[in-house]
Amino acid sequence: MILRKALSLYPTRLKIWFRTEAKAPAIGAIESSPLLEIGARFDRPIPGLWLGLKSKFSIALSIAIFISFLFRPLCGTSIAEQFERAGYLEISDKHGTAMFDSLYAYFDVFTEFLQKNPSWAQKLYSAKERFVRSKDRNYYSTDFFGLYDESKREGRSQVCFYYSNHFHEFICSRYPEFSEVPEIVHFFEACLKTQKPYGSLFSAAASELGLETIFSSEYKQPPILLKIVKYLPSYIPGRPHYDGTAFSLFLHSTDNQSLLLSPYKSSLTIDDFSSPPREFSNSVLLIPGAFLTEFFIYPTPHIVAQSSKIRYATIAFAMRPYFVPPKIEHSPLPSFIRN
Ligand SMILES: [Fe+2]
Repeated sequence: MILRKALSLYPTRLKIWFRTEAKAPAIGAIESSPLLEIGARFDRPIPGLWLGLKSKFSIALSIAIFISFLFRPLCGTSIAEQFERAGYLEISDKHGTAMFDSLYAYFDVFTEFLQKNPSWAQKLYSAKERFVRSKDRNYYSTDFFGLYDESKREGRSQVCFYYSNHFHEFICSRYPEFSEVPEIVHFFEACLKTQKPYGSLFSAAASELGLETIFSSEYKQPPILLKIVKYLPSYIPGRPHYDGTAFSLFLHSTDNQSLLLSPYKSSLTIDDFSSPPREFSNSVLLIPGAFLTEFFIYPTPHIVAQSSKIRYATIAFAMRPYFVPPKIEHSPLPSFIRN
């Protein structure tokens, strides 16, 4: 039996259709503007769900509305159950790789400039130190900002940058001399552009979990940290970790296979970790971090495996405003270091 329901929220501009049928596919998918196509992969069939959306609204509004329907447990599979069962939710994303290729190119120019000009690296570090003593730091509930260059540290062999809007604004207002360095300006602008489309996704995920209040603040949006990281071929994995976040969103990587994760368990071994199969050619992975444990949503442990090549990745972290994490012991994590 086919049940088709047409729902017109805004009769002249937006229509949402639902169709359920006995032989429906296991994937809830959505269409919107040519720039955006989002769907979700669940790790078990979703009985009879097909969801389509066509909208002339802005992309941001489309994302927010879509995500709201995406996360709704129409089929009995809630986002909380998906986290518990698989540890992640895959969401198709049509932003493509060009934006990230450009970001990584600017990142290389940025890091090379700072490596060759230690006085600028020191100035950036001083800016970070000042920022973490400002009131905006507490909005993010972390001290992770700026550059962490461990490219010469044996085993670590990586360099990463933690970007946030407020850190960017802080630097622009307090250190106007940075605006005269194109290697810095272009990278910061690329970070800003990359982060922008994903904020509403975190709010929608929190909403679907009934946790709207976790992002409450005077800014009315989640505090987001964007991490850009480059692993060198000499990188050696140590032990998986849990993220100190509400949610983490793996936006892009030049090597998806190297990301290994496991759903949360009371006891974990190396064999529990694997690379999530991808349903979509371009997609992002949403996982819970360690800041939702009070709601019985447990963090997904993960690790980047060794690879013989350079690996770039971009991750967006949704933090909790003004949050003091309680001391909670999560399950111990196994070492990946070979003896
Ligand atoms: Fe992580």
